[in-house]
Amino acid sequence: MKIDVISLFPKMFESPFAEGMIKRALDKKIIELECHDMRKWAWNSYGAVDDRPYGGGVGMLIRVDVIDQALKEIKKNKNSKVILTSAKGKKFTQQMAREWSKEDNLIFICGRYEGFDERVVDLVDEEVSIGEYVLTGGELPTMVMIDSVTRLLDGVLGKDESNKDESFSENSVLEYPQYTRPAEYLGKNVPEILLSGDPKKIKQWQEAKKELK
Ligand code: ADE
Repeated sequence: MKIDVISLFPKMFESPFAEGMIKRALDKKIIELECHDMRKWAWNSYGAVDDRPYGGGVGMLIRVDVIDQALKEIKKNKNSKVILTSAKGKKFTQQMAREWSKEDNLIFICGRYEGFDERVVDLVDEEVSIGEYVLTGGELPTMVMIDSVTRLLDGVLGKDESNKDESFSENSVLEYPQYTRPAEYLGKNVPEILLSGDPKKIKQWQEAKKELK
């Protein structure tokens, strides 16, 4: 999968993706990640990508022509899904991650400042939020979404970890409690049944303890 990111801070993506599962996915070429500096499509020679809002108001808005030019260059003839990060967007879910994991190319546009010219919304397929709180920009949401999509791609996780995804419904997760050594710590013991070595009983216990989180 090819993933393009349009951001004012493309360097923010370097260190989080230089470790762990995402690094593995990049090394194995399961994903290819290209982070583009939005200023490449600046509307003036000073590198400006934003402008004052018509009708007044505080802050600056990212211009529609900047994003249009960026998408024209990045999209080429590819069948791409374009995602705009925004606190007022549709809430990101595991189900969306599953659907996006089937795409060939995802393009994320990271929001900044006070927002975008509303016409940017017409240029994208989805306007997406990662939760009901306001962040300073769309870089962290984009990283969260890339992480959750990438872990679903073939070859990124081991088989056991992959199966875990089966327990997710749209907005919740079914899980049973798990323990490792030591069997007793500060007076708290691992449930006896897990030490019994009886796989049938253990399975029954795990099923009974599954909880919606
Ligand atoms: N930009 C600012 N806050 C955001 C959020 N919660 N989700 C996505 N993009 C954002």
